[in-house]
Amino acid sequence: MNILLIGSGGREHALAWKMASSPLLTKLWCAPGNAGIAREAECVALDVADHAAVIRFCAQNKIDLVVVGPEAPLAAGIVDDLASAGVKAFGPSKAASQLESSKGFTKDLCKANNIPTAAYERFRDANSAKAYIRKQGAPIVVKADGLAAGKGVVVAMTIAEAESAIDMMLEGAFGAAGAEAVVEEFLEGEEASFFVLCDGERGLPLATAQDHKRAFDGDNGPNTGGMGAYSPAPVMTDAMISRAMKEIVDPTLRAMAAKGMSYKGVLFAGLMITKDGPKLIEYNARFGDPETQVLMVRLMSDLIPALLASIDGQLKNFDLRWFSDPALTVVMAAKGYPGDYAKGSRIEGLAEASKVEGVEIFHAGTKAEGSHILSNGGRVLNVTASGKSVGEAQHRAYEAVGRIKWPEGFCRSDIGWQAIAREKGKKV
Ligand code: AMP
Ligand code: GLY
Repeated sequence: MNILLIGSGGREHALAWKMASSPLLTKLWCAPGNAGIAREAECVALDVADHAAVIRFCAQNKIDLVVVGPEAPLAAGIVDDLASAGVKAFGPSKAASQLESSKGFTKDLCKANNIPTAAYERFRDANSAKAYIRKQGAPIVVKADGLAAGKGVVVAMTIAEAESAIDMMLEGAFGAAGAEAVVEEFLEGEEASFFVLCDGERGLPLATAQDHKRAFDGDNGPNTGGMGAYSPAPVMTDAMISRAMKEIVDPTLRAMAAKGMSYKGVLFAGLMITKDGPKLIEYNARFGDPETQVLMVRLMSDLIPALLASIDGQLKNFDLRWFSDPALTVVMAAKGYPGDYAKGSRIEGLAEASKVEGVEIFHAGTKAEGSHILSNGGRVLNVTASGKSVGEAQHRAYEAVGRIKWPEGFCRSDIGWQAIAREKGKKV
């Protein structure tokens, strides 16, 4: 098969790496890709916002399948346009991807279908939002309604912090994405990323993972797109997975089908495991980044038939096999991320680092200049390792990180702390 992958992050490098190992693959392209993806695929400078150009590329190169990584092209309807042109594309339609692109849409769907989530209100006006915040009290969570690259959420520990988040959002810090704000109840518990492959009717749970959203050690600092992850998430026991499917994912799939917006693709549920059970924090309409990096390392089965089964509505009787060894990934980011950062610094030592046993290095924001690798984004590398335990995977990943010479970068030094504390028998 000829496959075109859309995206340029560590998630896409992991997907490219996995698909490249499939006997079904004839040739892989990636638009736009990065320096790491270029090892697995031919990178093409296609403007993915120009759907007609993508369709032309597919015709010229006899593409059998397009795999869409990030949320923006999904929300722009690329899957719909490709399908109309007769090209198979993996991912939800524009209407179905509202589960990610509009938090208000998802909250309303949860309310109408008794799906457990934080209590909330939607606001366009700062005064009414602030009155509601004062009535509810802190801690409380303020979110921009639309897509804000994982940064449109303020978990406010005080009323003043929540009020200034309202001012920032409604005054346009996130552009149109923040024209409406959602104010919601603060949920207490342990978070998990839960991925379900969907075919419009059914959901097949994939592996679970835990992300580390905060920039700095000890879960401090600003929220980011994710600074590291590991899989599986011990909090997601088989019983918890069954509850999450029954109480959250299955009713969502039924409700979407009833609205004429059948959900196909990966549904990524960000869950809070509270004392009352799983609650939905948010949905994403795509694979997680950096969670996909650990998922792909753990996936034993071929990914491509699973993507096709999702598109073709054939997930009934489909199953996937996973390696039982855990995997962990450490994100190396440019200093300053998630705020301002510089691009273009040189990264050395990657070959030495990838020699550490069990290690796979996925590239995110990188570009090649001659034989050198330069940083080209906020999150730059994902140093991923598997091991017999999360502790061993962590040890290997940080050994590889230690071999990478990139003074302009930083990473957290405690990725996996919750799982490792559990492995040591401590209560978390
Ligand atoms: P989101 O972009 O919605 O996933 O939010 C980013 C992060 O903010 C989440 O991963 C949580 O750590 C935190 N968060 C979001 N909503 C809530 C909530 N209702 N209660 C507690 N923490 C939350
Ligand atoms: N790591 C969280 C996300 O992909 O949104």
